[in-house]
Amino acid sequence: MEKIIRALHLIHDYVQKDENGNIESKNRVLWDISVDIEAGSFVVLLGHNGSGKSTLARHLNALLQPTEGTVWINGHDTKEQREWLEIRKTAGMVFQNPDNQIIASVVEEDVAFGPENMGVPTEEIWQRVAKSLESVDMTAYRYHSPNKLSGGQKQRIAIAGIMAMRPSCMVLDEATAMLDPSGRREVLEAVHRLNKEEKVTVILITHHMDEAVDADRVLVMDQGQIAMDGTPKEVFSRVEELQKLELDVPQITELAWQLKQQGMPFSDGILTQEQFIHELEQILQPGGKGTEHVADSI
Ligand SMILES: Nc1ncnc2c1ncn2[C@@H]1O[C@H](COP(=O)(O)OP(=O)(O)OP(=O)(O)O)[C@@H](O)[C@H]1O
Ligand SMILES: [Mg+2]
Repeated sequence: MEKIIRALHLIHDYVQKDENGNIESKNRVLWDISVDIEAGSFVVLLGHNGSGKSTLARHLNALLQPTEGTVWINGHDTKEQREWLEIRKTAGMVFQNPDNQIIASVVEEDVAFGPENMGVPTEEIWQRVAKSLESVDMTAYRYHSPNKLSGGQKQRIAIAGIMAMRPSCMVLDEATAMLDPSGRREVLEAVHRLNKEEKVTVILITHHMDEAVDADRVLVMDQGQIAMDGTPKEVFSRVEELQKLELDVPQITELAWQLKQQGMPFSDGILTQEQFIHELEQILQPGGKGTEHVADSI
């Protein structure tokens, strides 16, 4: 499988300098990170506040350069300034606050802004705008003012703006954090569709554990290092370790885990209500594998 992102022994120090340029303080926030991301995969990045998620995200867009080690985006080394344009075309970033990402007063102009800046021919720009709006289900708002849209709609416009630059990879840094549940759902559906239909590699940073359930891979950061790396089922089976890292698991995973602690034979890493109900039925059926525990547990 092709690796669209490669980080090798990535170290990042935030350095504070005084007015004379002398180093005042140095804060190491990424400690020797080596990770590869497969093209076309949907990766969720978790970790408590300050664990280094946004810092790592900024390396994927060459907004930061490694203090030590190397990051390649589609083979381009982020330390090489001449590669930055190509890197930023390859890996688009969507941030938390939708209002800070809207530039124009009409939706279609906002989406056109990126490809215009890249010098894409006019006719192609409008083809891309139409396609991008369609891919986030916002075609009906093409001539609207972005200011009047909901948070979820604004984020989808921001995503369309990135899509119009034809990235192979999209990094969303808590892009759903300021949205209500329906806005979150809209944005997640749009991102999953882009991943499935357009094969865009997605790196989604979130504090909402349920957003990780459908990922191909979950990375958990702790103190500037990758503490866990696996499928959602593998990672969310490690409930106690996650709790030590001050992280939750999805509610349904937690419920199954609690019941297991009480003696009901649930599998580890239950991720969906369907799985939960299926296992509960197995446990509760006459002669089922756990009937003797049920009276004690409920
Ligand atoms: N510009 C900066 N200068 C100095 N230190 C910084 C800077 N930005 C972040 N930090 C520090 O680096 C560490 C990692 O921050 P980062 O923003 O990458 O974490 P995060 O996992 O994204 O956190 P959150 O969940 O709160 O968004 C924190 O201790 C933070 O205070
Ligand atoms: Mg952050």
